Amino acid sequence: MGWAVADRRGPVAAAQEQSYPVRSGRTSPDAGRPGRDVTSASRVDAVTTSPHVSAKLASFGTTVFAQMSALAAQTGAINLGQGFPDTDGPTEVSDAAVEAIRAGHNQYPPLPGVPALRAAVAEHQARFWGQTLDPDTEVLITAGATEALTAAMLGLCDTGAEVVAFEPTYDSYAAAVAMAGAKLRPVVLRPESDGVFRFDEADLRAAIRPSTRLLLLNTPHNPTGKVFDDAELALIAELCVTNDVIAVTDEVYEHLVFDGTHRQLASFPGMAERTVTISSAGKTFSFTGWKVGWACGPSELLRPIMTAKQFMTFVNAAPFQHAIAVGLALGDDFYSNYTASHLGKRDLLGAYLRAAGFREHAVQGTYFSTVDIRPIVERHPHLPGDGVAFCLALPEVAGVVAVPTQVFHDDPRHGTGIIRFCFAKTDDTLTSAGERLVEAFA
Ligand SMILES: Cc1ncc(COP(=O)(O)O)c(C=O)c1O
Repeated sequence: MGWAVADRRGPVAAAQEQSYPVRSGRTSPDAGRPGRDVTSASRVDAVTTSPHVSAKLASFGTTVFAQMSALAAQTGAINLGQGFPDTDGPTEVSDAAVEAIRAGHNQYPPLPGVPALRAAVAEHQARFWGQTLDPDTEVLITAGATEALTAAMLGLCDTGAEVVAFEPTYDSYAAAVAMAGAKLRPVVLRPESDGVFRFDEADLRAAIRPSTRLLLLNTPHNPTGKVFDDAELALIAELCVTNDVIAVTDEVYEHLVFDGTHRQLASFPGMAERTVTISSAGKTFSFTGWKVGWACGPSELLRPIMTAKQFMTFVNAAPFQHAIAVGLALGDDFYSNYTASHLGKRDLLGAYLRAAGFREHAVQGTYFSTVDIRPIVERHPHLPGDGVAFCLALPEVAGVVAVPTQVFHDDPRHGTGIIRFCFAKTDDTLTSAGERLVEAFA
């Protein structure tokens, strides 16, 4: 049995923003301008505020990252802000994309994705996570994980539904929830003395209510680097089952776990039938611009997601879908080298961050390192203690760009003083950035 494909073909050009909007209209037009007052707790500007914006999106501006990247360009700073690698992925995969274009895979692929990729995703899920899927009905290919996440909100949530997510949240979550007319109920992750971010069980229990429709879980977690452990996942699973909540998991960093093990929430008792597992090729294959992602789960959960997806992009990236099918079938050595090389990068940058005087949090997974800036600010009191202001100052003070994690919070007070560096960069770039930070602060 295959997908029931609707007749209407009408790809809507969704101008999807792959950057990081600042929420709540917390804006300051002066932030980031030359001559700004970096000692104040400045807000990063929501540049695109417009009288024409819909109420749903009024609190979402653009983009701390555009601003930080512009600062990097102005100052010649090394950009460890945005989360993308600075080298291409395996040549087998890029060669396969070229071949797919030459072989004529250039028209609309089937709505659920090309069969070869759906089969490759199902094989990958079985090979690494023991998840059994029917590639015809339980795998849906999407325009990156972002589209899968947004289509899940649109397809599964009615207006007023509540979505529980652990905060800081990846930037697109709050916007996707808002577009669905749903309401985000954050459960805050806080760093503990061992550097690991954890949530309070009571907060999670209080957040899940009769109006909760979905729980959105990102593990390994951007930006904190947290990998949710078995006890945490078991609790989340139990609460989903007892409260009849659907889980949507974002596992784009599934192959970047350094401490602990990646476990799927879908593998816990009662969860296979109520979980949509989302991932993408962007991180694992270092082709973030191809935007090939997928959602896996029971067909009755995927069908509404596909309904929403068909009116967003309909389909995308036909030749790249063929190429990622080749990538997913690469041998175990590709995957283990990928993890090992990023472990080396984590340790390389981490040593510099600590030598510079930052308090580094545990990086159990992902390719992000978050640090507490307070020890630096104590030693250099002219620097701002607010993460946004600190990041605005950092290119001039140290020649490096980072991003403040408070923009990933509904209430920015929760993330103030914590900033994030991306280490998916060449060792030379990380060494240069690290040396600059040590010179500026140590
Ligand atoms: C946690 C998380 N989810 C989703 C995405 C987006 O994935 P994609 O580029 O496949 O849409 C990212 C990208 O940074 C991410 O960090």
